[in-house]
Amino acid sequence: MRIGVLTGGGDCPGLNAVIRAVVVKGVTAYGHEFVGFRRGWKGPVEDLTQPLGLDDVEELLGRGGTILGSSRTNPYSIDGGVDAIRATLTRHGIDALIAIGGEDTLGVAKRLTDDGIGVVGVPKTIDNDLGATDYTFGFDTAVSIATEAIDRVRTTAESHQRTIVVEVMGRHAGWIALHAGMAGGADAILVPEFEFDVEQVCGWVQSRYDRGHAAVLCVAEGAVPAGGAEVLTAGETDAFGHARLGGIGTWLAGEIEQRTGHETRAVVLGHVQRGGTPTAYDRVLSTRFGLGAIEAVNDGDFGVMIALHGTEIVRVRLDEATAVLKVVPAERYAEAQQLFG
Ligand code: F6P
Repeated sequence: MRIGVLTGGGDCPGLNAVIRAVVVKGVTAYGHEFVGFRRGWKGPVEDLTQPLGLDDVEELLGRGGTILGSSRTNPYSIDGGVDAIRATLTRHGIDALIAIGGEDTLGVAKRLTDDGIGVVGVPKTIDNDLGATDYTFGFDTAVSIATEAIDRVRTTAESHQRTIVVEVMGRHAGWIALHAGMAGGADAILVPEFEFDVEQVCGWVQSRYDRGHAAVLCVAEGAVPAGGAEVLTAGETDAFGHARLGGIGTWLAGEIEQRTGHETRAVVLGHVQRGGTPTAYDRVLSTRFGLGAIEAVNDGDFGVMIALHGTEIVRVRLDEATAVLKVVPAERYAEAQQLFG
């Protein structure tokens, strides 16, 4: 078989490890050939390819980013986009596609499957918000980076008796904030799922000072104050309609300083969370997903996404994969909240 591979949406550590597993097993076990499509769905739409053989995936396991490049291109919002994909696949004699991406990339994969193109999906997002899989690779790495950042700002916050608000990624789901906040012992964790009360946050901050300590807070970029709205970095939206968030940490730091009188700073981690080498956990998960994906293609089982259920690698239908956003449930948030302040 000739198989096309692409990576779409925001990049994350572990993408290259998936590509490596797919190609190594596909070539050595089944004799398949691969074509790399560059920059997400833009690749098959515009016929942007690159070679993808055994030599090309050497030493990829621990390399951050994606050698194929990525984009948030949506072929369904481009005139003739799907026909262009069909033409590219025919031109290269491609029998199937492996699409590695998050909810948007997999949503396109699902629609293409409905339109008769053989696609297998691999879930990717540092946000860990895809309902059909217990974990996505990239999440563990992002949490590790954010945890280290919280640990580091804690010592300088204590030295200067300052409050520091650490803003992490997470538009609609606060998993990174919840896990990094718990791992780093943040004095408050604010997530998009539950509006926060600024006065209550100031109360948690003050109780730290009352005990002779500074405060470190962890806030997801999509967190919203009661009665307020998401803070947007820029007015524009991407091809899937997502606005660019960011700035809640800085806004909150200003409110805390004004209301409590304690000097307060914000640290925005941003893309630091998505860059660099994946953790051992993410390398293993990526590799297992890659092996699962090539098996599914080899079986001709299209329209599925590879997922982790417990410790098992399974296949779920692509429509199920993109149906539910996995958000932080009230009980998990309440659990963390017991240690705030
Ligand atoms: O979806 C993953 C993610 O990292 C989100 O947490 C974040 O809001 C978004 O991507 C940022 O995307 P971009 O890099 O395109 O601004």
